[in-house]
Amino acid sequence: MPDEVSRRQFAKLAGLSAAGMASPASSVEAKPAAAPRDSGGFPQNFVWGTATSSYQVEGAVNEDGRGASIWDKFVRIPGKIEDGTTGDHANEHYHRYKEDIALVRELGCKAYRFSVAWPRVFPDGDGKPNPKGLDFYNRLVDELLKNGIEPWLTLYHWDLPQSLQDRFGGWRSTETCKIFGDYAAYVAEHLTDRVKNVFTLNESGRFVYFGYGIGIDAPGLTLPQAEVNQIRHNSALAHGLAVQALRAHGRRGTRVGPAENIDACIPAIDTPENVRAAEIALRELNAGYLNVIMTGRYTDAFLKYAGADAPKYTEADLKIISSPVDFVGLNIYSPQHYIVASDQGAGFMPLPIPKSFPHMNSDWLRVGPETIYWVPKLAAKIWKTNAIYISENGASGDDQVTQDGKIYDTDRIMYLRNYLAQLQRATTEGVPVRGYFLWSLMDNFEWVYGLNKRFGLYHVNFDTQVRTPKLSASFYRNVIAKNAAGA
Ligand code: NOJ
Repeated sequence: MPDEVSRRQFAKLAGLSAAGMASPASSVEAKPAAAPRDSGGFPQNFVWGTATSSYQVEGAVNEDGRGASIWDKFVRIPGKIEDGTTGDHANEHYHRYKEDIALVRELGCKAYRFSVAWPRVFPDGDGKPNPKGLDFYNRLVDELLKNGIEPWLTLYHWDLPQSLQDRFGGWRSTETCKIFGDYAAYVAEHLTDRVKNVFTLNESGRFVYFGYGIGIDAPGLTLPQAEVNQIRHNSALAHGLAVQALRAHGRRGTRVGPAENIDACIPAIDTPENVRAAEIALRELNAGYLNVIMTGRYTDAFLKYAGADAPKYTEADLKIISSPVDFVGLNIYSPQHYIVASDQGAGFMPLPIPKSFPHMNSDWLRVGPETIYWVPKLAAKIWKTNAIYISENGASGDDQVTQDGKIYDTDRIMYLRNYLAQLQRATTEGVPVRGYFLWSLMDNFEWVYGLNKRFGLYHVNFDTQVRTPKLSASFYRNVIAKNAAGA
């Protein structure tokens, strides 16, 4: 087979290239394989996408009337960002969005997940909207559709208007939740003629605890547990208000759901007892956000554990929080807890994670491909949902540009290949995962790590803004073309 030959040639050339003698360029960018008629891969119409977020890529923080966000302020506190960088320029995506959408198209993606910067649209969070801010998202959405790519919009990816932090203490106050609902209504009115899928808040599980509990993320506070629990409750309330706003102000057929970094529980060994225990663990360890959204109540175990620190709430809050959603978005990266059955407590025990557990180029990013099999499977069962989207999955790598100007990120490919094989295992068993958004389209501003940690399929030189496809871009293109993991 000619294919086979070129692969062998490639291996040979790659060896030479390591010695600086030849470039494997052309065979690396081999055309993606055509989808076999009966691929035995992912379901037909599986949504393949990539994702980014506003503060991480847009730059242009002072342009066209954008207001300040809590991240604009936070990145200026000395020592907060590992490499001292900011999102002031990031990928200059605000100006280069057409070029970037061409990259999405290059991959063969059918969908692109981006977030709207709230302070672009409402510089103060509430009050007078800024038409120029909204215009950017009009242009972005139009350009995506022109390229045959479905826009998937996230309302909140952490760039809270600073004004709301100053006036109300940000998510400490339910005022911010109400204002978020109004902002969601405005976005719904203006964009859902073209945007059919909306994620509410991205990763409450992170921004609440990291931002208000341990001060690692903006706004950098270290509040007592009771307040953190209240803020988490407020974030669930904000989610519910946004769902209601989308229903009331969005075009008919607009779909909405959360995008949560679910606390990932996996049976340590696949026995019926452990699987049952992992199911309980998944519910209980996500009781403060996803479970209350999906069921309308805090579990007894959660309330008991929180004790005097439990959030204060009303029945009306719970109704809003559990407004029915159309799908559940799960950001899945690492296995967080390997679970075994226990006859103590709620019936599960998380095992300690050994120091030697393998991880990618971020300490927290442990490699556990089975996470993306078990978590959607258990989540679908617990919450009886028939539409799950992997709203993020991806890996950081120590991506070096080699002498030939290429980036051979075989470690990222290893990670993706194994995760996608497990995801395919899930869909083959009928787990209702309908789509997958790879984080990220391109290297970008990775929050506290600055520009140091690279997650992109495209390498970005932040001095020149040149984007270069990594080998993983070819890999992902091939997966999409075959609609199968075995690429
Ligand atoms: C989840 C966050 O949503 C995203 O902003 C971040 O860059 C990735 N994880 C990688 O850490």
